[in-house]
Amino acid sequence: MREILGNDFEFLLEMMSDPEVMRYYPKPSTAKEVHELIDRMRTCYRRDGFGLWLVVHREAGYPLGRVGLVRQQVNGVDEVEVGYMIHRPFWRQGLATETATAVRDYAFRDLRLPRVISLIRPENAASRGVARKLGMEVRGRWQHAGLEHLVFAVDPPPA
Ligand SMILES: CC(C)(COP(=O)(O)OP(=O)(O)OC[C@H]1O[C@@H](n2cnc3c(N)ncnc32)[C@H](O)[C@@H]1OP(=O)(O)O)[C@@H](O)C(=O)NCCC(=O)NCCS
Repeated sequence: MREILGNDFEFLLEMMSDPEVMRYYPKPSTAKEVHELIDRMRTCYRRDGFGLWLVVHREAGYPLGRVGLVRQQVNGVDEVEVGYMIHRPFWRQGLATETATAVRDYAFRDLRLPRVISLIRPENAASRGVARKLGMEVRGRWQHAGLEHLVFAVDPPPA
């Protein structure tokens, strides 16, 4: 995983305008929204030291998705979410599990976060599967982007 750069635009647009990938989001993203995401991530890296990172194939270097950490406010509480999106041709190869697990461990070991969450639409079975593999459990419900979401969370392992 590495920071997202301006010239990742084409890949991000291809993935984020795909109706199947975006099925559980309000709608597929436009070019303008992808540019805004890239700008937002560049700000997050500087401000927080983290954000969504680009997942690239280790040997061949081509992009596979975006996975990382995003600040969220849930019920008035500041939380950090493990966010994951893998492009459709690469689904079901364990990539979300592998990368989100690394991100979860980084959040606990290096950032010392007290917990991480994931906001997931109840009907998003694939995402719930990844959350389960991260050791997350449902701790509540929250209206996010105008849509009902389950709040999955996991705490650090005991020292
Ligand atoms: C959710 C997503 C990231 C999963 O990526 P992935 O790399 O295919 O996931 P993994 O291969 O690591 O799968 C992990 C587990 O999730 C579950 N899962 C994954 N895809 C699934 C599907 N299509 N249907 C049901 N369960 C699924 C399974 O339990 C799977 O474990 P298994 O393969 O051992 O059975 C991917 O489907 C995606 O990008 N979806 C669109 C974006 C999105 O909805 N992101 C989450 C927003 S909260």
